[in-house]
This record gives sequence, C-alpha cells and structure tokens, in this order.
Amino acid sequence: MTIYSRISGTGSYLPEKVLTNKALEAHVETSDEWIFSRTGIRQRHVAADNEFASDLALAASRRALEAAGVAAADLSLIIVATTTPDMVFPSTACILQAKLGAKYCPAFDVQAVCSGFVYALATADQFMRSGQYQNILVVGAEVFSRILDWEDRTTCVLFGDGAGAVVLQRSDAPGILSSHLHADGSHAGILSVPGSVSGGKVSGRPLLQMEGNAVFKFAVRVLGEVAEEALAFNHLEKSAIDWLIPHQANIRIIQATAKKLGMPMDKVITTVDKHANTSAASVPLALDTAVRDGRIRPGQLLMLEGVGGGFTWGAVLVRM
Ligand code: ACO
Repeated sequence: MTIYSRISGTGSYLPEKVLTNKALEAHVETSDEWIFSRTGIRQRHVAADNEFASDLALAASRRALEAAGVAAADLSLIIVATTTPDMVFPSTACILQAKLGAKYCPAFDVQAVCSGFVYALATADQFMRSGQYQNILVVGAEVFSRILDWEDRTTCVLFGDGAGAVVLQRSDAPGILSSHLHADGSHAGILSVPGSVSGGKVSGRPLLQMEGNAVFKFAVRVLGEVAEEALAFNHLEKSAIDWLIPHQANIRIIQATAKKLGMPMDKVITTVDKHANTSAASVPLALDTAVRDGRIRPGQLLMLEGVGGGFTWGAVLVRM
C-alpha cells in the first residue's frame, strides 16, 4: 500500500508589532502609494527584540498541533525552514523541539530562503513515504527584519516577520500528490545576504541585497514553469486546481503567475498585504489563513509554490 502525507492541521503566528507603510514614511523616503501600487503590501509585522525565529515557530506550531489533535510528544520528526535562525547552531528545529517539550525525534533546519517551506514540505513527504514516520511538524519561521538595511528603501519596505506550520500525518490516501524542487546557484548574486561569521567577527555585509527587476522576471518565469511541471506529472489540467497558494512576495508576481496558469485571482490565496514577504513563512501563513476562514475545504486540490534566494523554487500539489 502506498504511504501518503496528509495535512491534518495548520497554524500561524505574526508578531504583535505592526509597521504600516505610513509609519515607514518616517524612516525612508517612500510612500504608502508607492509601496502598495508596486507590491500590494500595506503593512508588515516586526518581532520584538527578545523574540527569535524559534519563538514565532513555537506559537505557529502549537496552533497547528492543536488543529491536528496531535501532542508534541507524538511527533516523529520536526523540520524548520528558516534563513534567520536563532543562532549559528544548534538548529532552530532543535531549539523548537525543546520549547515544545518534544523529545528524541529528529529535528533539523532547511535553508532555501523563500522556497524554504516548499522544500521542507517536500523533504517531510519523502521521509513520510519511507514508512518510518507518523506525525511530522513542518514549519517556516523568519525574522527577516534582522537582516534588512532599514535605510535602503528598495528592500526594507518588502519584508516582514512571521511563522506558519503544518502537521503531516501518515495516510493511505493523498495527501501530498507530488513535489517538484529546483535550484540554480548561478543566480545567487541577484538576491543574497553576503555575510558570515568568521574568527569571532562578521565578515562581509550581513544585510539583504537584491536586484529587484531581475528577481521579478526570474520569479514569474520559474513559478509558471514549475506549476506546469507539477500538473503534467499528475496528468492534471490547470482547471483541477482549487486554490493556488504562491509565495507571498509581491502581488504583481502573484498576478503574473496566476495569469500564466489561466487562474482567476479569486482562486489565489493572497495575504501579502497584511505581512509583506515573510520568506519561508509566507506559504504556510497564507495556507493557514484560508484553512481557518473556511475557503479551503477537505478534498480540494492546492498548488503551493515557492521561489527565493539561491535561486531555489518548487511546487507541491496537495489534496486536502
Ligand atoms: N519608495 C519610493 N521609491 C522607491 C522605493 C520606495 N520604497 N524603492 C525604489 N524606489 C524608486 C527607485 O529609486 C526608482 O527611482 P528612479 O526612477 O528615480 O531611479 C523608482 O522607484 C523605480 O524603481 P524600480 O526598481 O524600477 O521599481 P519597480 O517598479 O521595478 O519596483 C520592486 C521595484 C517593487 C522591488 C520590483 O522590482 C519587484 O517587485 N521586484 C521583485 C522583488 C521581490 O519581490 N523580492 C522579494 C524577494 S525575492 C522573492 O521572494 C522571490
């Protein structure tokens, strides 16, 4: 019998502090009109000084575990996607495991920037299909506010902090139909944080830099391609997708992707207006929002898509 992963619970968390576009006008030369018309973003959430990726992950995970009716002690694997870990090591997944009070299950981080959640979900599904796992927690958690140059208006207006989580449970029926991951490291230069820790010092510039136009074009192209690839693999037509849940970076990238797929925007989940680009947290934040408000219903087919630094990109087709 084939083993599948089924999403049995979702959860998300946004830090309390909200930073609106209007408030940003006091920091950099920008305007709500410029930001909203170019990106669809109205506001972002910013973690408190004493809040780390693992804290955001903890709040989202507790909600997902509660929704799934699974106890932390019964988790057989924890995977956290993050680009902004609490520290160099241990992994944020291990720190989260301790905070959840789970013990002994394997726990590790996945680093694929804004594709992180899609990469982590695909990885979790492969573990599940091995037959050795029952309940897997998959989290995307980011404090991107910590790696932004708050004086650079071309980047600081685009990102925010947050976390989203899902509980996958072993099932005889799909579940995750398939996942499709890609990377092309030759495009590393158009989006990066080119710093590292060395000899007790930070070397390089540990703040986000981006060629916005190049990222825009790359993202639209690969999101279209990987969606087609996932559909062809499953012999499905575009019309079979009930909901498209793309990485929440920019409404114009999302609209262009939906257009390529011939999907009306009312079949696309968008939350970028409320939290900006939260990198690995963006897809599970959007997913949880639409599960909790009742738009996503059991039996529906979802296309989850991520794209981000690396460059990395991927799609996961999920039957709810
Ligand atoms: N407020 C006001 N003006 C600004 C701002 C700002 N925050 N930022 C840039 N400008 C100015 C520029 O300086 C430029 O001025 P100039 O014409 O005098 O030189 C002007 O606005 C136009 O700049 P462009 O970069 O051409 O603006 P564009 O319309 O291309 O939009 C944007 C820029 C929004 C970054 C766009 O390229 C984009 O969305 N790129 C995708 C980036 C993205 O989403 N990255 C997320 C991370 S990657 C990922 O998740 C896949």
